[in-house]
Amino acid sequence: MEGLRRRQLHVLRRAGLAWWRLQGGQDREGRAVRRSPAASGARPLTSTVSAQARRALAAGLPDFPWDRLEPAKAAAAKHPDGLVDLSIGTPVDPVPAVIRAALADASDAPGYPLTAGTPGLREAIRGWVARWCEPSGDGFGVLPTIGSKELVAWLPTLLGIGPGDTVVIPRVCYPTYEVGVQLSGATVVRADSLTSVGPARVRLVWVNSPSNPTGRVLPPAHLRKVVDWARERGAIVASDECYLPLSWESSPVSILSVCDGSFDNVLAVHSLSKRSNLAGYRAGFVAGDPALVDELLQVRKHSGMIVPAPVQAAMVAALGDEAHVEEQRERYARRRVVLRTAFERAGFTVEHSEAGLYLWLTRGEDSWSTVDWLAERGILAAPGAFYGPAGERHVRVALTASDERVAAAAARL
Ligand SMILES: Cc1ncc(COP(=O)(O)O)c(C=O)c1O
Repeated sequence: MEGLRRRQLHVLRRAGLAWWRLQGGQDREGRAVRRSPAASGARPLTSTVSAQARRALAAGLPDFPWDRLEPAKAAAAKHPDGLVDLSIGTPVDPVPAVIRAALADASDAPGYPLTAGTPGLREAIRGWVARWCEPSGDGFGVLPTIGSKELVAWLPTLLGIGPGDTVVIPRVCYPTYEVGVQLSGATVVRADSLTSVGPARVRLVWVNSPSNPTGRVLPPAHLRKVVDWARERGAIVASDECYLPLSWESSPVSILSVCDGSFDNVLAVHSLSKRSNLAGYRAGFVAGDPALVDELLQVRKHSGMIVPAPVQAAMVAALGDEAHVEEQRERYARRRVVLRTAFERAGFTVEHSEAGLYLWLTRGEDSWSTVDWLAERGILAAPGAFYGPAGERHVRVALTASDERVAAAAARL
């Protein structure tokens, strides 16, 4: 217990390091920072001066990818029959009635919610994990999150990972893994095979199956190897499994099913955004190593990262109902067949796309050229370049458009 408390304190200190050092007039490496007169209070702080005196987080981040798609979107919107937006995977179908009712019933919520989640929510998450993830034991911890993007973006920081540490992410992946590493000040390495990582001090490995954007599913043996590799090196594996309920041609498994009875060093990240059309509610959770989950809880309690009470109630209803999930899955399955057939007829090659919410397509050319070709037909797709240099010859097409818009896209191709 004492050891656990020390570990928690260590994490809190590491997470707060940059702040403490800057308060004390030191930079991230502990060197003295030359304070301008403004920073020492002699005259009002201007943004230029303050940007020099601190490490502006925003300055280290890439352009927000979707902003770069605006010109193609404007071009596609000129189509006489309107835009078919297959770029961002944002759900368009209704929030199931059972979930909306639970949210409404819980709307009289004057008090602060529990960061750890209500007992009912914790139970609902545990039950869902037991049914869907086939965990190798019941000693896993659970914690609700405000959607999963915030957890992905802050996980390295919350775990006390920082400068000098390395985080491994897939070669082609959801951009927020890299953003999270940049926010923490650690170094990112893109690799699908851990043998290519070299001697770097790896603290965290991200895996994502089914993958966004490729739809690739990692076999259980691969996941097991990653867990073994990480445990041998004292690294943590974070497995983003937010598309687990959406499988088409293969059956994805959770990392929690390959842990050999112990959840040490392993975290599974889940989201209700796509499973239950709840992207607007911001509802997700993390499950796995109970000590790590507890560390996350301690930091999140201190920093106010709390899922709102009505959303917690909505999550209980969502996790307890599979009928709406099946209905939504069938919608996506139908749209997937229409789009896949149309893109293949138009000369595209579909790669991976075995599961998840996207088709990963190529015409054998630069991804921005394909984006332009589609925009001329009023269709907006995401360039593979958004997901890493290895995606530069692909585009990602989301299944999240109405049946009518999907039919329109197919007719135009
Ligand atoms: C792989 C992956 N992880 C996490 C997220 C974040 O989802 P949310 O924040 O809605 O839970 C997304 C969203 O598209 C995603 O594709």
